[in-house]
Amino acid sequence: MSSYRIAVVGAGYVGLVSACGFAELGHEVVCVEKDEDKLAMLKEGVSPIYEPGLEELLKEKLACGSLRFTHDLGESAAWAQVIFICVGTPPREDGSADLSQVEEVARRIAGVIDEYKLIVEKSTVPVKTAQWIKRTIELYGGKGKSYDVASNPEFLREGNALNDFFNPDRIVIGVESDRAEKILRDIYAKIDAPILVTDINTAEIIKHASNSFLAMKISFINMVADLCEAVGADVKRVAKGMGLDRRIGEAFLGAGIGYGGSCFPKDLKAFIKIAEEHHVDFSLLKEVQKINELRIERFLKKIKDVMWVLKDKEIAIWGLSFKPDTDDIREAPSLRLIPLLLSEGVSLRLYDPKAINNFKRVFPETDRVRYFTDPYSAVEGAHALVILTEWEEFKRADLARVKELLLTPLIFDGRNIFEPEEVQKFGLEYYPVGRGRSCVE
Ligand code: UGA
Repeated sequence: MSSYRIAVVGAGYVGLVSACGFAELGHEVVCVEKDEDKLAMLKEGVSPIYEPGLEELLKEKLACGSLRFTHDLGESAAWAQVIFICVGTPPREDGSADLSQVEEVARRIAGVIDEYKLIVEKSTVPVKTAQWIKRTIELYGGKGKSYDVASNPEFLREGNALNDFFNPDRIVIGVESDRAEKILRDIYAKIDAPILVTDINTAEIIKHASNSFLAMKISFINMVADLCEAVGADVKRVAKGMGLDRRIGEAFLGAGIGYGGSCFPKDLKAFIKIAEEHHVDFSLLKEVQKINELRIERFLKKIKDVMWVLKDKEIAIWGLSFKPDTDDIREAPSLRLIPLLLSEGVSLRLYDPKAINNFKRVFPETDRVRYFTDPYSAVEGAHALVILTEWEEFKRADLARVKELLLTPLIFDGRNIFEPEEVQKFGLEYYPVGRGRSCVE
């Protein structure tokens, strides 16, 4: 197997996981990060994000010398044979992706190309970005130099990122030359997964279309959940029944309070926008967004319907991160529900296994927003428990203890983590999402 000198630009989720992953696959890796605080942590082997197994791998690769960190993009790009662009592409006001960081990296690379280099975009970008990278390189000194641009979208999920990196469902490679294809195939040679080789525009669309489709599945099942609630059916069983059809599949048919995170909301916006720019009306995805936005209000209405007056009540919340196994709170449902509860006059008792520090930066501790270091203290004396993230720890909760600690025995479950009959056995009133009228009587 050939080993390559790889520069990964940007130590965010995708960049850091890929950098550690490439080092583990036997390549020599430098990871470029411009945030000095983050860089200092990384050099010490401390991961700025919580991701199962990541810090251990980071420490191991630093120690054996196959991975290093620097702020020096020019030196790294000059040294590397392959450069992966993994910088952020946040949404702009109008929903389109802000590609200024990608452009900046392309400009800097343009100036250091001497012998052949492969420049690969791994950040999630709108279709045609590679063409712009190429044009930027040409404009800023790369004209006549030997290089290729390629697209190699990343499909990792937060909380499961390393596993997704080493065991992906597929590797997508968008290339314009056999040389670029060969290098990318070599880089991933140790990974046992189907490789799909396409042109670059197609690879870019695969990424946006995949995330949009998954978000669409979630909004679809959430509407089915509403119907289930109205007629007394069980959305979990509906999802099971649908999912057994191999053309549909059970994954991402988990009803609840909707999707969040740094990817789906942003990628949907960007996909709708890029379609619009090419005169394609993707209003289907606008509906997907609308359904997702309304989940929070619907959930709040359910709480109010059951609790009547919310003013001066205490509510415990389990789960602040947008999903389990991560400390990431970007676009988390908790960020939207909590201000609504506060404006109703509720006092909150918050617990999350990993995300409390991040959350405190947005909602500092006050007498109405209190944080607890274990789930049971959060529940003590509360009028209700609200579950917003399906952490394993919550699934295994001692419900008898929860019943004893709650002032009034109400559980609102935005993630459907329990079976209604199980919870009701403990004398708790249980309000999941889309699981029949029997549960809300
Ligand atoms: C998502 C994709 O799953 C990855 O393939 C992709 O690489 C990544 O975005 C990205 O573009 O970087 P991620 O945002 O980490 O990954 O999280 P997911 O596991 O996809 O969950 C997204 C949201 O959907 C979460 O809020 C989750 O709670 C919600 N969800 C997921 C549901 O509400 N129901 C489900 O059945 C599944």
